[in-house]
Amino acid sequence: MTPATSLFSPVEADLQILAENLKQLVGNRHPILYAAAEHLFGAGGKRIRPAIVLLISRATMQEQDITPRHRRLAEITEMIHTASLVHDDVVDESEIRRGVPTVHSLFGNRIAVLAGDFLFAQSSWYLANLDSLEVVKLLSEVIMDLAAGEIQQGLNRFDSSTSLDVYLQKSYYKTASLIANSSKAAGVLSNVSSDTAEHLYNYGRHLGLAFQIVDDILDFTSSSDTLGKPAGSDLKSGNLTAPVLFALEEQPYLEVLTEREFAQQGDLEQAMNLIKNSQGIQRSKELATHHAKIAVEHIEVIPSSQSRQTLINLADYVLSRLY
Ligand code: IPE
Ligand code: IPE
Ligand code: MG
Ligand code: MG
Repeated sequence: MTPATSLFSPVEADLQILAENLKQLVGNRHPILYAAAEHLFGAGGKRIRPAIVLLISRATMQEQDITPRHRRLAEITEMIHTASLVHDDVVDESEIRRGVPTVHSLFGNRIAVLAGDFLFAQSSWYLANLDSLEVVKLLSEVIMDLAAGEIQQGLNRFDSSTSLDVYLQKSYYKTASLIANSSKAAGVLSNVSSDTAEHLYNYGRHLGLAFQIVDDILDFTSSSDTLGKPAGSDLKSGNLTAPVLFALEEQPYLEVLTEREFAQQGDLEQAMNLIKNSQGIQRSKELATHHAKIAVEHIEVIPSSQSRQTLINLADYVLSRLY
């Protein structure tokens, strides 16, 4: 599940510290909430978001060491991400995450909703304690975006007239906003110029979009074992992602199947086949590649370093998950 460790080598030691700290940060105010939160942190995950924050921190601090505030920002970023996953799994009714049972499947929906809230609240508290109003503004917007994205996705279920723009907007809210704003925040903590801060934001934004498009392709092409979460579930639950939206342009019958919510026997299989026999997957790969390329253009403006090179390689890693 974790990417080749060598990919993150400039911040590998930092990620070790982060893993330890995350467990402590959850605190133990209530044993059940603690158990629920600890459960997912213990299972790990790819840690892409905190790795990006740490890499940008190192790349923008140049010869100086990164500060405790940079580290805390990386931890907050992973906390917000994990909170969003706990809620997302309730909404999606997913049973497996990071290769282990989801919080709601172990503890029930009520505890999962509260545990997610608890993690969001706790990340807000740590955020405020960074004592940077600008960073507070950036990351609190993310928490609003995450909720807006889930709501938008819920409202557009099975709507075959969803446009690619609406899909990308939702993907920004659900995924790219966190990566974009935490990337920029890392630069803000290093006192970069506002011009550089915008480039960092756009690196995160485009990398995040590429990442979500790839995740959406993998839902069609990968297995639950490889992903550590259920595959093939987006279509069934009516989340019309890039491969479907492209396929709809060339397969009119897919619209009929989608509009009746795959209710008749064999509908889902037929829809899957129509998508696989279309250019949908290929065009989605091209779209992800396009965004990964723009991400690289934005990160190339900061001074060259090993950490910057890793941020560039990360764009390739995101795409390489497809092969
Ligand atoms: C899952 O993110 C949610 C998406 C944006 C697709 P990750 O694939 O980064 O999840 P973990 O943290 O590695 O489990
Ligand atoms: C990812 O959405 C964005 C989140 C903030 C959770 P998905 O619904 O595609 O995430 P997975 O596939 O469950 O990881
Ligand atoms: Mg989901
Ligand atoms: Mg997904």
